[in-house]
Amino acid sequence: MRPVQMFRAMLLLSTLFLLFLYSSLHKEVLVHIQSRPRGPLGQDSPQSAKVTKSFSIKQNTALSRHPAILNVSVSASFRSSVPENGAYWNRLLHSGLRRLDKREEPLGHEAPWHRCRETNQEFLETNVPDVASYPLLFRNFLQGMKCRSPPLLIDQPAKCKEAKGSNATFLLFAIKSTPANFERRQAVRDTWGREQLHEGRLRVRTVFLLGAPSMDDPDLGLLLAFEAKHYGDILQADFHESLFNLTLKMNTFLRWALLRCPRVSFVFSGDDDVIVNTQALLSYLESLDPSKATRLYVGQVIKTASPLRDPKSKYFIPLSYYDGRYPVYVGGGGFLISGALLLPLYSACSAIPLFPIDDVYIGMCFSALQVSPEDHAGFRTFDIREKDRDNLCAYKSLILVHRRSPQQVKKIWRGIQSPLLTC
Ligand SMILES: *[C@@H]1O[C@H](CO)[C@@H](O)[C@H](O)[C@H]1NC(C)=O
Ligand SMILES: *[C@@H]1O[C@H](CO)[C@@H](O)[C@H](O)[C@H]1NC(C)=O
Repeated sequence: MRPVQMFRAMLLLSTLFLLFLYSSLHKEVLVHIQSRPRGPLGQDSPQSAKVTKSFSIKQNTALSRHPAILNVSVSASFRSSVPENGAYWNRLLHSGLRRLDKREEPLGHEAPWHRCRETNQEFLETNVPDVASYPLLFRNFLQGMKCRSPPLLIDQPAKCKEAKGSNATFLLFAIKSTPANFERRQAVRDTWGREQLHEGRLRVRTVFLLGAPSMDDPDLGLLLAFEAKHYGDILQADFHESLFNLTLKMNTFLRWALLRCPRVSFVFSGDDDVIVNTQALLSYLESLDPSKATRLYVGQVIKTASPLRDPKSKYFIPLSYYDGRYPVYVGGGGFLISGALLLPLYSACSAIPLFPIDDVYIGMCFSALQVSPEDHAGFRTFDIREKDRDNLCAYKSLILVHRRSPQQVKKIWRGIQSPLLTC
């Protein structure tokens, strides 16, 4: 070989080697990002932005152009229940509704995820003059009010896909959890949330809704990736877990369910520290007449509630943020909605600015839809009388009790299943 040929061959070989090296590294980076959800917003490296963004764009464009969302209507009774005054949320709602009525571009609060956070301090101070006095958590929430579509880190695309000829999902348990709550999730899987075909007809599926751990949390990414693969029931989105992000969690779930489980008959939304009497729940659902079964919003109804104004309260709402009463709503510890209402609900919510308390927010959306919450005595989101707590028969007739430890959940579940139990 002449030196020139030799040089060319070496050049070719080293190019091939470099290409191979690059592609295998690249693959590793992608896998790494998908299986170890970290980093604050998934946009700190170009690869992660690519992975997560393509997903959320696909999700959003299909939905945001849906006729139900473009033509969303908001009931007069809801409009008049929110006073038009100087409070920030009230102003956001009413100015949004005016734009909606004029059929202007859908409300400004559906900004792309990577630039939805309001970082302009002057904007906030102009609109909320006393924002400096808000608790930190609340200021965080305020900045993220236009952020509604976090990218998914762990998806379950086939959750509701059934083999041909087998029964579609009848009931979907959508359980609010957090990354570290492994034990609670396992207790749910072992007991009331077990995925199965009840009585050979009623298919029950379960997903756990998770946000992302914060910088200071230990990295649970690998454990979660394993759990998600093993059980197929983890849904994780890229937002910080916090009390005031539960609304975002619910909104993310609704969008996911519309995409992945559009034909589910019923959805149960609840916490990971409740016990559900699945048999009682299923017989209740089966007993409903069809007109009711498609317009269900049922649980423990909370009437005549108002925002708490004590800054020390967990649920403190500043007066300059929201001024008015709360709608009638059902407690977020556990409630049921019809699958047929998923799209109307999501559409109604798209016209309503995010509110930091998730069950109040869902109540607002239903009020905009003119679907009234229905009270069911079997839903005990504030627990049962102290003296009944060890009485298994008390649980036999109930649907939901909040709150129980994983050990209590297992024990009560075993007890109420027992053929020896006489009530
Ligand atoms: C579920 O499957 C059974 C048996 O195949 C069938 O008879 C029944 O109608 C199905 N029910 C629903 C709700 O799809
Ligand atoms: C909600 O999550 C977003 C995205 O991670 C974050 O920027 C925001 O601060 C969180 N909100 C609260 C109230 O913690």
